[in-house]
Amino acid sequence: MHIIPSGQTLGAQANGIDLAHPLSDGDFRSILRALGEHGVLCFPQQMLDTDQLAAFGRRFGELEINVANAYHEPNHPEMMILSNIRKDGKQIGANDAGQGWHTDMSYSHDIALANILHAQHVPMRGGKPLGETQFRNMHAAYEDLPDALKHKLEGRTATHDFAKFWDMMVAKPGSTRKPLTPEQRAKKPPVSQPIFRRHPITGRMVLYANVGYTMSIDGMDPQESGEILDFLFRHQERAEYLYAHHWTVGDVLMWDNIGTMHNAIGDYLPDEPRYMRRVQVMATLDYARLLAQ
Ligand code: SIN
Repeated sequence: MHIIPSGQTLGAQANGIDLAHPLSDGDFRSILRALGEHGVLCFPQQMLDTDQLAAFGRRFGELEINVANAYHEPNHPEMMILSNIRKDGKQIGANDAGQGWHTDMSYSHDIALANILHAQHVPMRGGKPLGETQFRNMHAAYEDLPDALKHKLEGRTATHDFAKFWDMMVAKPGSTRKPLTPEQRAKKPPVSQPIFRRHPITGRMVLYANVGYTMSIDGMDPQESGEILDFLFRHQERAEYLYAHHWTVGDVLMWDNIGTMHNAIGDYLPDEPRYMRRVQVMATLDYARLLAQ
């Protein structure tokens, strides 16, 4: 396997590996290290069936079953379908997933290590791919914060709520999302997360707050909390932290869900089909120990 860095703030391409086969321990460690270093890894031209994609994801941690779980591959409740395709008049996948800056699973007590998407159909117009996925580098965002703010927020937590992003999407004009049921809300109550956390692969600190899910800073006056979060949300959207992935069919894209946040661009039309399979890898392993072996 050869890792070719993008030369930008995030991103690398991993060539010379067929993810359809079980990973050797060496490749597993190389991928983990590269994920920490580059944040977003693209494995091009992968031909994986659903079992092989699930097996690749499971190597890095348990796979999450989404709380809304409306669209998944047959016999794979852990593999969501993200798609605007309709069959027999019905949506076959989530057609607006991730369209807004967020960090997956920051609303969950147990957080996610990585998200893995496999591109089956990529919308194209005039020979160019649409529906890019954008990322921002939260290692860099943390490092560039003013020292006084780092000091003020050290050891503090913020409340994250799954419903914040969901309700925002439901409220968008033309949304086909159904409001969360009381049972779904109860399954994902708000949780507190450290605002800064040590990344389990890099050992460096990251800014772990995002406009999609973060509601307020715990134990702080609401006005001050609002002002500081506004500052953090503007800071983390600085242009120099941005990296965009332009999809090609067959790409497996794996991204770090602790050291980055992301945003899916919905710039394609209903007759420009997009179809992604997705697994969410929870941070259930001791990555530092595995890397040290
Ligand atoms: C997501 O946030 O998981 C969706 C990303 C995408 O479809 O590009």
